[in-house]
Amino acid sequence: MITAPNSSAKEWIFRQLAERAAHGPVRVCDLACGSGSSWHDFLLRFPQVMYVGSDTDREAIEQARRAFADVPTATFSVADAQRAAQEKDSYDVVTAFSALEHVVHIEPFVQHALTILKPDGIAYLNYDNGHFHSHDPKERLMVPVSQLLARFGIEGPYMKEVDDEELCGFIRKQGGQVLQVRKHHFSTLKGFMKKYRTREEVLNAWFAFEDRLNELVSAHELARTCGATTVVVKRV
Ligand SMILES: C[S@@+](CC[C@H](N)C(=O)[O-])C[C@H]1O[C@@H](n2cnc3c(N)ncnc32)[C@H](O)[C@@H]1O
Repeated sequence: MITAPNSSAKEWIFRQLAERAAHGPVRVCDLACGSGSSWHDFLLRFPQVMYVGSDTDREAIEQARRAFADVPTATFSVADAQRAAQEKDSYDVVTAFSALEHVVHIEPFVQHALTILKPDGIAYLNYDNGHFHSHDPKERLMVPVSQLLARFGIEGPYMKEVDDEELCGFIRKQGGQVLQVRKHHFSTLKGFMKKYRTREEVLNAWFAFEDRLNELVSAHELARTCGATTVVVKRV
C-alpha cells in the first residue's frame, strides 16, 4: 500500500521504515515535522513505530496534536533542532522531511540529529529544491528576502538551496557516515503523481524507475533534473 502518493521521497523513506518495523519496535524522531500530516496513515498501519515529532512552529505542533488524537503512538513537542539535544542515543531512526532547505544553521541541526540517534541508528535527511527553480517570481523573490529576514532573527520563512557536498561534509565532521545521497521527484513527477495517485501499480512502476535511475546515474548528475534529495546517514 502506498502511504505518500504525492511524494516519492517520503514514500521511499516510509518503505525503508516499514522494512525495519517488520523486525520489531522502532523509535522515530521526526525533526522539523510541521503538522506531521504525511505520517498519519503510516503510524496507524505500523503501531510498532513510536513516533516523536518536533518543530519550532507552535501552531503546526498544536494542529498535529489535534490531527493525531487517534494515534496513540505519536507525540509532538515544540523544539529547535539547531539547539543542543537534551536526549542522547535515544532513537533508531531520525527523519527530517522537506526540511533542511528551511534550516538556517544546518551543522548544529545535523549534530542534533546524530546526538539523539542510537549507535547504528539511521537518519534520513530530506530536502526539496523546487522553491529555488520555481517559475513563480514571488516564490523566487522570497528566497533572498527570507535569508535577509533570518539575519534579523525571523527564521520562520527561511529557505536556502542545500548543497549536497557541504551537507555531507557537516555529517562526516559530526561523526556520521553518509550511506547514500538519493535523488527523487524527477522534473515531470509532481503532476504525474497527482494524476495517478489512486493507481498503485502505476506509482509502483514510477518508484521502480526512480530506484533504477539512482543505481545507474550519480546523485550529482541526477541533481539537474530532480526536485528532492534524501541523504541517508548512519551513526558510527
Ligand atoms: C516545509 S516544512 C516541512 C514540514 C514537514 N516535515 C512536512 O514534510 O510536511 C519545514 C519545517 O521546518 C521547520 N523548521 C525549520 N527550522 C527548524 C529548526 N531549527 N528546528 C525545528 N524545526 C524547524 C519549520 O518550522 C517547518 O515546519
